[in-house]
Amino acid sequence: MSYGTGLAALTAERIWKGVCLMKVSQRAKAVAPSATLAVTNRAKELKDQGIDVVGFGAGEPDFDTPDYIKEAAIKALKEGKTKYTPASGIPELRAAIAKKLETENGLKYKPEQIVVNIGGKHSVYEAMQAVLDPGDEVLLPAPYWVTYPEAAGLAGATVKVLETDKSNSYKITPDQLKKAIGPKSAMLILNSPSNPGGFTYTPDELRALAKVLEGTNVAVMSDEIYEKLIYGDTKFISFAALSEDAFNRTLTLNGLSKTYSMTGWRLGYTAGPVDVLKAMARLQDHMTSNPVTFAQYAAIAAMGPQSAEAIEKMRIEFEKRARYMTDRLRAMKGVECTEPTGAFYCFPDVSAHYGRTFGGLKITGSMDFAKALLEQANVAVVPGLPFGCDKNIRLSFATSMAQITKGLDRMEKWLG
Ligand SMILES: Cc1ncc(COP(=O)(O)O)c(C=O)c1O
Repeated sequence: MSYGTGLAALTAERIWKGVCLMKVSQRAKAVAPSATLAVTNRAKELKDQGIDVVGFGAGEPDFDTPDYIKEAAIKALKEGKTKYTPASGIPELRAAIAKKLETENGLKYKPEQIVVNIGGKHSVYEAMQAVLDPGDEVLLPAPYWVTYPEAAGLAGATVKVLETDKSNSYKITPDQLKKAIGPKSAMLILNSPSNPGGFTYTPDELRALAKVLEGTNVAVMSDEIYEKLIYGDTKFISFAALSEDAFNRTLTLNGLSKTYSMTGWRLGYTAGPVDVLKAMARLQDHMTSNPVTFAQYAAIAAMGPQSAEAIEKMRIEFEKRARYMTDRLRAMKGVECTEPTGAFYCFPDVSAHYGRTFGGLKITGSMDFAKALLEQANVAVVPGLPFGCDKNIRLSFATSMAQITKGLDRMEKWLG
């Protein structure tokens, strides 16, 4: 088909038919399409047909944002806090974050060492853009949050995956890290508690990893977004708080999405060595400018005196669900589940069922498993493959106890 030459050939009809008259960049083409989307879309299709699907896919708390935070945003709007702010965030918010990091995490940062980002995902992207060069290598323990490899790729870096398994509760060992570090290793990503499994490193385990990094050129990106959602006798410690060496090589990432049920507000932040944070501020100046102005005022309120009570209410509920879901999964035939010590996900190993045929569909991996579970039992889970662990599936317990019970009943019956 020819479109002729020159603008005259561009009829309105052709534009409306969606003809693309430009190329797509190699950079954008290299970004993997979401491997979870097929299941999510199919779940939506089934729901639209009136089928009662139980969804365990959610990556966000099912609670509403607490009222005191909403009220602070409304107040800010009424006061006309609707204009540009400094691109890295208003000084009052950066001061509030500095205070939080000092009192809760034992980390002393100056305001210029903190940038407020547009969600934790933006923190990840911008941090990698500020630190990584093409050809650098990122050490990524699996299972990993799906955004990390894509963000590393967008910075031109290559990814070296560090495999883990249930024998070590899906955590890397110091020895494994030592062997993985090579001349091009520029960054280690740590996410504790983790998405997709709620796996949390103990302070001693982190200390041992920090020791391995001493004397190397490896920076650490410590994504601490699930810091407040920890269960049982789990202890949280910021990687940067482990030693002076760790402090100087670590970017501490956090955000308000999970802790305050503020996923839609888009607020994250990064703290770390001043040169890198200044570079992030420069990038942000030209990429996005400031996070939403009135949301920044709400963030100050979120971290204020009512914070502890608001978080504890959610945490207690999540802890109850974590226990229940783990017990139920463990009781199912051919399912092994490491108990989540944080976050709001279970990540059971279901590979004992691979090779079986369910309702005419042979299960060869987590994609088939999730597909069959959705089609045949109307339970939506996320396959482990895009998280780097094809033996597992991810179930979020950020949904009501009634839904959790119903979904697990269906899954148990289906597997049995
Ligand atoms: C490990 C981890 N880091 C960061 C984020 C980013 O959260 P947001 O961009 O909503 O603040 C998420 C969200 O799912 C996550 O799971």
